[in-house]
Amino acid sequence: MKNNLLDSVHETLLMGPGPSSVPPDVYRALSHPTIGHLDPTFIEIMDTIKEQLRRIMNTDNRLTLPISGTGSAGMETCFVNLVEPGDNVLVLINGVFGTRMQDVAGRLGAAVDTLEFEWGTPVDPEQVRERLSKKDYHIVAVVHAETSTGVANPVSEIGRLVRETGDLYLVDAVTSLGGMPVEADAWGVDAIYSGTQKCLSCPPGLAPVSFSERAVEKTMQRKTKVPNWYLDLSMIVNYWEGEKRAYHHTAPVNMLYGLYQALNLILDEGQDAFFRRHNDCHSILVETLGDMGISLFVDPDYRLPMLNAVVIPDGVDEAAVRSRLLSDHRIEIGAGLGPLAGKVWRIGVMGHTARKENISRLTNALSEVL
Ligand SMILES: Cc1ncc(COP(=O)(O)O)c(C=O)c1O
Repeated sequence: MKNNLLDSVHETLLMGPGPSSVPPDVYRALSHPTIGHLDPTFIEIMDTIKEQLRRIMNTDNRLTLPISGTGSAGMETCFVNLVEPGDNVLVLINGVFGTRMQDVAGRLGAAVDTLEFEWGTPVDPEQVRERLSKKDYHIVAVVHAETSTGVANPVSEIGRLVRETGDLYLVDAVTSLGGMPVEADAWGVDAIYSGTQKCLSCPPGLAPVSFSERAVEKTMQRKTKVPNWYLDLSMIVNYWEGEKRAYHHTAPVNMLYGLYQALNLILDEGQDAFFRRHNDCHSILVETLGDMGISLFVDPDYRLPMLNAVVIPDGVDEAAVRSRLLSDHRIEIGAGLGPLAGKVWRIGVMGHTARKENISRLTNALSEVL
């Protein structure tokens, strides 16, 4: 074929906010022959994925499965199944992805309140406690790893407060899952979602979600139908659970091979070793950047290991640097989002990318470009 555009796709070291680089074993998994989505072998793979996700999310939730779609489909799945018009929802916001939750919940007719915190700082549990003492909410939602700022939110502490009220607790684990501990049950999380393209090192396209029994109960007591056919979990489970599986939509078969293999790799390496690799790479990156006179935007106490918001040195054309890194070195880093545009670069150290040799490749290239 003449001019096949895929000939221009070159291997790139992905060190932005996602997608991250994909391991060869996952590429091999993706290229296995496509089989029918009701083939018994495929059903066995689906059942194994549910079990793998429970292990990585640290949950016993029966309703744990990957939604077809990216992380945003996971976000919509949680809100669309749990929210009914008029429900009181509190969204804790300290970055772009908190504001997305507010938008999604608002579109469903929820009465949305927000508690906002300065970007680059974490959610303050004291303020959450105070707000929860004043008003009853159906759902309290927060982002664990705020990819727009590089801040880790205190999800465990917030979970303790939410549990005392009996509200449902909804957590975004798109960037955190795989790269740092996610303890859905221990933190009292009722609905959690993630994405495949960050620390799980699988291409974008699937959104693992998990619902507690309390969350499932809320969906069963709905007075109104879930207003989105594709993401209605009460129908999706008939394909993902039970002796007899019923067609809902055609599963993205090869993507699920990829996720199965990506989760295998993490569980084989061991979650603690996987987290350590992220922490070690983060420390080396921070130290090397420090030697170059470049600082991080976020205080060390609540920095994420896998997403580093790096302050752009004075007088540097940030877009030109990113562009040179890509064209001359085949390395991608991310720009700042929203109010942080032009102020920070976002350097991802996620999953397969989190290797010491990748950190030196980036920091050497960055020195050269600067
Ligand atoms: C914290 C967080 N939530 C949600 C999303 C949305 O995920 P996606 O872009 O895969 O739809 C992202 C994507 O970067 C994210 O970082």
